Amino acid sequence: MELVEDTSRPPLKHVKGVPLLKYFAEAIGPLQNLTVRPDDLLISTYPKSGTTWMSEILDMIYQDCKLEKCRRAPIYTRVPFLEFKCPGVPSGLETLEETPAPRLLKTHLPLSLLPQSLLDQKVKVIYIARNAKDVAVSYYNFYNMAKLHPDPGTWDNFLENFMDGKVSYGSWYQHVKEWWELQHTHPVLYLFYEDIKENPKKEIKKVLEFLGRSLPEETVDFIVHNTSFKKMKENPMANYTTIPQDVMDHDVSPFMRKGITGDWKNTFTVAQNERFDAHYAKTMAGCALKFRFEL
Ligand code: A3P
Repeated sequence: MELVEDTSRPPLKHVKGVPLLKYFAEAIGPLQNLTVRPDDLLISTYPKSGTTWMSEILDMIYQDCKLEKCRRAPIYTRVPFLEFKCPGVPSGLETLEETPAPRLLKTHLPLSLLPQSLLDQKVKVIYIARNAKDVAVSYYNFYNMAKLHPDPGTWDNFLENFMDGKVSYGSWYQHVKEWWELQHTHPVLYLFYEDIKENPKKEIKKVLEFLGRSLPEETVDFIVHNTSFKKMKENPMANYTTIPQDVMDHDVSPFMRKGITGDWKNTFTVAQNERFDAHYAKTMAGCALKFRFEL
């Protein structure tokens, strides 16, 4: 694939007030005609919250834990990314057309931009949320390495934009809250990155129960082992190194960067942390959602 000149760092484009990557914004219109199947499963997250991790776990479950089957294609082909669009590369919708049922789908969209068919047909959702500080740090590094994003500027500048919802996909705060609320009316399994990190086996069992499946203990252990950060980091079908370097530059920051909870402490200054905490307390006031910022 050859990167054409203007794919590098175009400015964000707003759709219904939500800032999106330019090409993804162009995908939103056609996406509204999405035809879903009742056995589809949607993996939804705000970016950098463990999407790829859960995608790999689910593909392993769907492929009967056969590693060679999970190595059939890169993760973005195995789990089509609904709003993905980039010149010269198959779009999420095009990839989806080639995907046999039962299908795993991925999105980062807020509810206001989600195709209505997914809601109308009560497609099951697994939502992964991750604490905002680790997301912000992970997102900043991702903005730097993935050239479809605008230039993130300084960390301080990026953090301000993150708090203001002026980054791709908009407000983290609104995203985690509205998908949390969706549980009242829709089949959503809401999980936390920190919980998966702490006890992957327990969280994978919740996933299995949500899917109406069960697996022997040793098979669950096998999934835990093969979806560990270390294993996924060295797996080219999971680590995004199959994407051309002019789109994702792993020398700037690898996609599989650290994979831990609490890394924000290495990036936030004391002043940034105080400012963030004050803003967080105001924005999350009255919300039942509780995040862990360290383990
Ligand atoms: P870091 O940048 O903090 O390392 P997403 O897939 O939603 O884009 O999320 C990417 C983040 O999840 C990155 O975080 C990445 O390292 C982390 N990640 C990916 N696979 C993981 C795994 N198996 N275990 C723990 N973290 C993982």
